[in-house]
Amino acid sequence: MPASFSHRLLHWFDRHGRHGLPWQQPRTPYRVWLAEIMLQQTQVAAVIPYFERFVARFPDLAALAEAPADEVLRHWAGLGYYARARNLQRAAQLATAQHGGELPPELDALIALPGIGRSTAAAILAQAHGQRHAILDGNVKRVLARHGAIAGWPGEPRVAKRLWALSESLLPQERMADYTQAIMDLGATLCTARKPACAACPVSGDCQAHRQDRVAEFPAPRPRRERPRRQARLLLVENRDGHILLERRPPAGIWGGLWCLPMLDGEDAADPAPWLRRHYGQPARLVAELPPFSHAFTHFELQLTPLHLRAEAGAQALQESAGLRWIDIGGADLPGLPAPIGKFLERLRSERAQQSDAGLV
Ligand code: ADE
Repeated sequence: MPASFSHRLLHWFDRHGRHGLPWQQPRTPYRVWLAEIMLQQTQVAAVIPYFERFVARFPDLAALAEAPADEVLRHWAGLGYYARARNLQRAAQLATAQHGGELPPELDALIALPGIGRSTAAAILAQAHGQRHAILDGNVKRVLARHGAIAGWPGEPRVAKRLWALSESLLPQERMADYTQAIMDLGATLCTARKPACAACPVSGDCQAHRQDRVAEFPAPRPRRERPRRQARLLLVENRDGHILLERRPPAGIWGGLWCLPMLDGEDAADPAPWLRRHYGQPARLVAELPPFSHAFTHFELQLTPLHLRAEAGAQALQESAGLRWIDIGGADLPGLPAPIGKFLERLRSERAQQSDAGLV
């Protein structure tokens, strides 16, 4: 019978884990809490100097609760995600008011404080009090999804439920503080997202993903939302002066009210000539179909195929009141265009500038 998961992990931790982290000595609830909040979106090496400065200025919960908010933010500056700092101070104030100036040593009471989720609360109680609670942060999700070959994206409740259950089933009876640090260290140093070091891993022997040689498949990535695809033509009508035709979009619908290259769908897309006659009233000759590009809206993806057309008329042949205008894409006063259209015109402009530098045009 092989040694248990936790036994092997702790044995590895004793030799290779991270010891001597500043929040491990002394391992007070306040220091562990602060470290866990800082570590939520930031790596250990980056956190250490911030942690040191922060605890030097705010050595305990009372100091943090009483400090001017600006000063707390100033000591957080550079770590990012400032809501964490604001929540930290609010939690310190609540703990002062409701829990006698201490962080409560119960899971539910900790979770009720701002900025503390289930995994963070469990990590605090395990490290500060040796309590037996499972954690499931990003690193641990990866370790366990692989070890149990748990399919599906961990952000899905059904998958998260299985991962929590697995995390709980592997807990040791003792050494919870070390075990909690150990499983996070395993995820951060060996069981990494890319190029995991399975050969050095203390729990690879019964890692299901490793056994099946499918480590790279776990955890499954967030599913890409399948958006329905729509197609439209984009008219790049260029007049004798090299100016481009813009149409104002109807007020409702995509890009409502913005100036845009004329966008045609349905029958008009199959043959733009009638549209041109109706709206523009002048003949235009097809020069080329340009490579299509796509833009993702929330609920669908729009594939746009630009058609380059040349009109015989000059810039004066248009009434802007009709919702049409000419623009000089090299000029300064471009109207507000939808971002992908602006980018497309910018690409076109820089290609043309390069061609003219090369003497092609
Ligand atoms: N990420 C969150 N908590 C951590 C910890 N205690 N050590 C390393 N990485 C972490």
